[in-house]
Amino acid sequence: MAEAAENLPPIEELFNPHSPEYLDNPVPQCLALTRRAPIVWYEPWQAWIVTRMPDIMACWKEEPLSSDFYDWEFAPPRPPEDEWSNFERAMIGHSLLADHDHHRLVRRVTAPAFSRNVVDAIQAKIEPDVQRLFDELGQPQTFDYKAMIAEHIPFISITRMVGIPEKYWPDIKQVIMTFTAAWNPTISDEERQSAREDSNRAIDIIKQVIAERRAAPEQDDFLSTLLKIEAENEKFVEGDIVTLILALIGAGSDTTLVAQQWSVYALLKNDRDQIAKALASPEAFSNAFCEINRWGVSSKMGFARYAPRDMEFMGQQLRKGVMVLMMPHLKDHDPEYYDNPEQFDVEREFNPDVMFGYGPRYCIGAALAKRQLYLTISELFRRFPNVELAEEPERDADDHNAVVFKRLLLKTNV
Ligand code: HEM
Repeated sequence: MAEAAENLPPIEELFNPHSPEYLDNPVPQCLALTRRAPIVWYEPWQAWIVTRMPDIMACWKEEPLSSDFYDWEFAPPRPPEDEWSNFERAMIGHSLLADHDHHRLVRRVTAPAFSRNVVDAIQAKIEPDVQRLFDELGQPQTFDYKAMIAEHIPFISITRMVGIPEKYWPDIKQVIMTFTAAWNPTISDEERQSAREDSNRAIDIIKQVIAERRAAPEQDDFLSTLLKIEAENEKFVEGDIVTLILALIGAGSDTTLVAQQWSVYALLKNDRDQIAKALASPEAFSNAFCEINRWGVSSKMGFARYAPRDMEFMGQQLRKGVMVLMMPHLKDHDPEYYDNPEQFDVEREFNPDVMFGYGPRYCIGAALAKRQLYLTISELFRRFPNVELAEEPERDADDHNAVVFKRLLLKTNV
């Protein structure tokens, strides 16, 4: 339980997600933070951290804070409208990340594009690509799952989901890899500028794809669905389509790559009877994935929000622009939250299930993410039923956002 703050060492002495100790085992640090107080000032990041689930859920649901990166006190200045490049036009003008009312409108009108049958259709399109990846891999004695399989999956799923034709794949591949960097608060101005230029190139390609699709017959992909939605809703315009596609790229790339690595690692590191249970059906995997994520505690930063004005929040006075981080992963090995938190049990019940967020900003790609993981991991165990970890993977200290592996070497035993 929380003690009087004046008797305790500064929190940065107990909690540092960039320390080797956190990479090795984040649990003691997460518990130290959550035991400190419901909201904690974290000097190194100049940010408040919300540490407990009821407050995080309320914050997710009621949205008292802003999700707009440009509201952050250390964000680059918001340029005047007549100087906007494609990047600002897409990210500020119509941003899914900005104004709450417009965000809700975009989510409401685009909901049909994420329905179950659309995800089924997308899965059918991704499946041959996954097969092809494993065919190209062949039957090696050992291989790096991260480089050979995991790193290809986000690109394949997002381009297939959106409906970006294969002729654009080489051009867009590079820009997708660097796009997310534009939103990383820790990069230098030069790196951000280069990520911004890549984003501009990505936007040009997306606009070209949209123009071609307008002239072509409708297809059963996300883009055609969005164009239909645009025709029926005067407040949903082409800029929203571009923003949404960028949001899918930004939010769906790193997350999937991390999830791929931890899914394979967790299933191979624990009792083998968990594998069959996890892969029994897409629904079983959906639950297993919550457990994989809980057991792994891969998150470092959590989810950022910004104070839109000087305001009071959870009993603290927030200055305008200050960052507030929500850290739902702090609970993941907390015995006050989960029974036997050290035990890996893919049939554990999650209620509420908050892996993909909660409320108005609940993850758009949740169904797709779980399906693409199920598809790929099932294929791994179908092709290599006796696969094992070839070594304990070394963790990569350079990733600012998540605990990830430098490589994930597997022994196939074929
Ligand atoms: C395992 C992988 C994934 C995890 C764990 C995950 C988790 C989350 C979480 C927790 C949020 C809420 C963030 C917040 O409140 O600040 C979120 C939002 C979002 N996710 Fe995912 N996600 C994953 C994969 C994907 C994929 C594959 C896509 C797209 C294809 C995607 C698209 C989005 C978008 C667009 C948002 C913002 C929604 C909004 O602001 O309305 N995610 N995700």
